[in-house]
Amino acid sequence: MDNQVMPREQLGVCAEGNLHSIYLMFNANDGVEAPLRSSLASVAEYLYDLTDQYADSAFNGFVAIGANYWDSLFPAERPAHLKPFPAMQEGNRSAPAIEFDLFVHLRCDRLDILHLVANEVNQMLEEQVELIEEERGFRFMDSRDLTGFVDGTENPKGRHRQEVALVGDEDPLFKGGSYVHVQKFAHNLSKWHRLPVKKQEDIIGRTKVDNVEYESEDKPLTSHIKRVNLKDEQGRSLEILRQSMPYGSVKEQGLMFISVCRTPFHFEKMLQSMVHGDGQGNHDHLMHFTRAMTGSSFFAPSLDFLRKDLD
Ligand code: HEM
Repeated sequence: MDNQVMPREQLGVCAEGNLHSIYLMFNANDGVEAPLRSSLASVAEYLYDLTDQYADSAFNGFVAIGANYWDSLFPAERPAHLKPFPAMQEGNRSAPAIEFDLFVHLRCDRLDILHLVANEVNQMLEEQVELIEEERGFRFMDSRDLTGFVDGTENPKGRHRQEVALVGDEDPLFKGGSYVHVQKFAHNLSKWHRLPVKKQEDIIGRTKVDNVEYESEDKPLTSHIKRVNLKDEQGRSLEILRQSMPYGSVKEQGLMFISVCRTPFHFEKMLQSMVHGDGQGNHDHLMHFTRAMTGSSFFAPSLDFLRKDLD
């Protein structure tokens, strides 16, 4: 951990998993930057306070600003590596970019509280933004993705979550903030469920019921785990913190994939490895059963950054 005092992070960035979530994607109206800066600081502070008030239900949340909108809102300063979503495509595997100006991420173990808060947040921003997308996520079984596989097992744990997810001294003004990538994946579950379980397990690289990782030599090069478990030149693991949850209805359902990280490059490398593969023709076969419908890039600044010119 860095030695200096951390600015207050938005508590939803590194929070542990919940039972429910609401995702709100907004675009900003023209010419509202000054009042919107102040409203966003108020929303972030409000979510911070609710984390205490609804601690029993593990409420948490954060607000994040879109890569393409950042310069309108904060023209004087920009997180060092903030850039648009790295759209990519190969064969019928595509990761399109659909950007939004603002992302509000809300989670709680009570859906009624979430519903109230989402309405309140919408009202706090109402004059300045348009709500473009709303999605609701839920915990499925024992934290499984809708494919039936436990999702999140290899996520960083304890204080390591902060080390992975939050910008440190390398970018002092943005310390305590996080690079956020969101992809809404729609699964083709009828195709998936027609596969024998062993084939599904080979695609993930773990067993289904017991969630045991395959031995290294048994992991197919096309398995999800193999494609995303990457190392840098020094042999250190490239890590991200995943805050994904299943979402949807009978008509369309899948995974709201959310990565938070102190750098955007880990996510990008992993996505490249899934879509383009390893250069030897091995891409991620999970991509045959799910389709990325969106891809958005944001930065969730610290609470202190959001408040800094307002006090
Ligand atoms: C691991 C599902 C997309 C990065 C896993 C695991 C599952 C899973 C079941 C194994 C358990 C675990 O460690 O969490 C999915 C599904 C996806 C998806 C259903 C989309 C439909 C992505 C994307 C990325 C990613 C887009 C990054 C670009 C990772 C990482 C791990 C992981 C880093 C941990 C690997 C390890 O160290 O073992 N995913 N994933 N996933 N996934 Fe995904």
